Amino acid sequence: MVETMKIAIERVKKSRLSEVDFSNIPFGKIYTDHMFMADYRNGEWTNFRIMPYGYMPISPATPALHYGQAIFEGMKAYKGLEGEALVFRPTDNWRRMNISGERICMPPIPEELFMESLAALIDLDRAWIPDTEGASLYIRPFMFSADEYIGIKPSDDFTFMIILCPVGSYYSTPVKVRIETHYTRASQGGTGYAKAGGNYGAAIYPAKLAQAKGYHQLLWTDGKTHEYIEESGTMNVMFVIDDTLVTPALSDSILAGITRDSVLTMARSWGMKVEERKISVKELIEAMEAGRVKEAFGAGTAATIAHLELIGYNGKDYYLPPIESRTFSNNVFAELEGIKRGLKSDPFGWIVKM
Ligand code: COI
Repeated sequence: MVETMKIAIERVKKSRLSEVDFSNIPFGKIYTDHMFMADYRNGEWTNFRIMPYGYMPISPATPALHYGQAIFEGMKAYKGLEGEALVFRPTDNWRRMNISGERICMPPIPEELFMESLAALIDLDRAWIPDTEGASLYIRPFMFSADEYIGIKPSDDFTFMIILCPVGSYYSTPVKVRIETHYTRASQGGTGYAKAGGNYGAAIYPAKLAQAKGYHQLLWTDGKTHEYIEESGTMNVMFVIDDTLVTPALSDSILAGITRDSVLTMARSWGMKVEERKISVKELIEAMEAGRVKEAFGAGTAATIAHLELIGYNGKDYYLPPIESRTFSNNVFAELEGIKRGLKSDPFGWIVKM
């Protein structure tokens, strides 16, 4: 439980908002005026505070810096027609954060702490929510162990924080991915299903090798056989093969994406055939060669619905059909954007107003 949530607020003396060019917002480089912070000490969450965004003192012996005891989430808020913040499925992120936390030996965050701190921070930095097309306020909750101890053990102390940044698209063009069959993002029994910092850090080198060859990202395969498609690291992946939406079934090496779930829920509600199952690289390549892969896209909070332009495998690039022909992913993108921006009804109850 949290002690009654009283959040101490220290406001900035002068907002930086007027310095931001909202017509050109990069992803993840601009942060709002304030940030939220809470400490976990002696078995309870305490010291809730919102302060000016900025550097913070941290012990050089913090285990998060040495052993990667750090987890995070990603959510988005949009500006509603009356200026309210429309936050997309935040309780699902809260739930997933606690699933990640358990795997990394971290204490659960009570729902009240997660939601109330988010609401208070968003309220303070409401003016930062972009209303330009394709832009939104990206919300990054994260937690790290905060002991001053470099032995390896479950930590006692933790810090939970939320920072906010106005963002544009994560991928500004259709995405070129390469199927990775040497390096491994996540293995059976590992931490792939957790949104743990280490998963992302370890994926940078293999992705860099692919980027040097002109790809944006990898399409990871399973760590044991490298025969089955898993996810793309920055997003889950989905294919329309013939008339069926196919995506890798969740496992302990795939992140349970909230956008992934939203797309599947929407597709099922439209009566589309949906299969969550294993997809082998062989099946995918053969289906692409036969022209049966009508659409291929990534689904993620940052990436939203990101069309794949091509998939590279064994030195060959397999181009996917023109973006204009991709009826399902274009419709799902438009519908999701409409719901997120409050322009369409929200039949699944995904929006929380703050
Ligand atoms: C997100 O989509 O929120 C993520 O965490 C992906 C990250 C690569 C930006």
